[in-house]
Amino acid sequence: MKDLLLIPGIQLWQWRSTAKSQSISHGISPDEVDWLLQELAGVNRLFLRLQPDQAIGSKVSLSDLDRAWQKRIAERTPIQYLAGITPWRSFELKVAPGVLIPRPETELLIDFAIAQDPSLKAGQWADLGTGSGAIAIGLALSLPDAIVSAVDRSEEALAIAKFNAKTLGAKVQFYQGDWFEPIAHLKRSLSGVVSNPPYIPTAIVSELQPEVRLHEPHLALDGGSDGLESIRHLIQVAPDYLTSGGVWMVEMMSGQADAIAALLSAQGSYDHITIHKDLAGIERFAIAYRR
Ligand SMILES: C[S@@+](CC[C@H](N)C(=O)[O-])C[C@H]1O[C@@H](n2cnc3c(N)ncnc32)[C@H](O)[C@@H]1O
Repeated sequence: MKDLLLIPGIQLWQWRSTAKSQSISHGISPDEVDWLLQELAGVNRLFLRLQPDQAIGSKVSLSDLDRAWQKRIAERTPIQYLAGITPWRSFELKVAPGVLIPRPETELLIDFAIAQDPSLKAGQWADLGTGSGAIAIGLALSLPDAIVSAVDRSEEALAIAKFNAKTLGAKVQFYQGDWFEPIAHLKRSLSGVVSNPPYIPTAIVSELQPEVRLHEPHLALDGGSDGLESIRHLIQVAPDYLTSGGVWMVEMMSGQADAIAALLSAQGSYDHITIHKDLAGIERFAIAYRR
């Protein structure tokens, strides 16, 4: 078994039982233990169902596996950072501490894009604040005729986004900079502007669960005093970039829908402003069209 270390099955089994007990006493789902075993150690699913009496091939030693797990328990490191990947839509994305872990609710933005008129879907799209590249890659893989650009201020995030796009065969042009600034050449050319910007009010960031507060980049979270700093900018500037009839869509936090709808309306360049819920029933997305 090339590149795999052989660990006595019984030892791995005992480690798994101990880790599962620890997870419960620390308020962590025991399923995370199996996920780590599969993703970090590469342990076969069958092992997770049977108690094997043979040696098991693993990509990491038992002590490395345990070291990672202890970080989960003691430091509340998100399991996705320990495994180095996260599932998102139908694919897996590399993630690391410099980049936000893409959330399942954000997947819906791609469904909203897919639901647009064919003429829009064949145009140019931009994902602003791309992070791991999730939205840009989702757009490129779901809208085969679109030309997709993606921007982020974080160099670390962009390196991961580029890796993910290459691995998944998604054609995306990446730019580093502040929102629209590096894509000034796309003025009046975008059929779609999509963003999941930082939207958490500064005072709330320090109250978030430790997995988020201590480990995810604050550049990806902190939306300024009322959480709307980035969204206000995206509402204000996007009309210069969108074609007539082009679609603007953002993710937001629970409780921001009325303020965002009012900002879109006050800007004066948008119509058909709608708010959409996520699968948990929370008002999570705003969509509007350039007049
Ligand atoms: C909430 S995260 C979203 C990441 C990714 N789109 C996702 O949905 O998982 C917001 C992203 O915006 C980026 N960002 C923050 N301020 C920015 C700015 N001024 N210009 C461009 N990107 C910015 C952050 O680095 C972060 O990657």
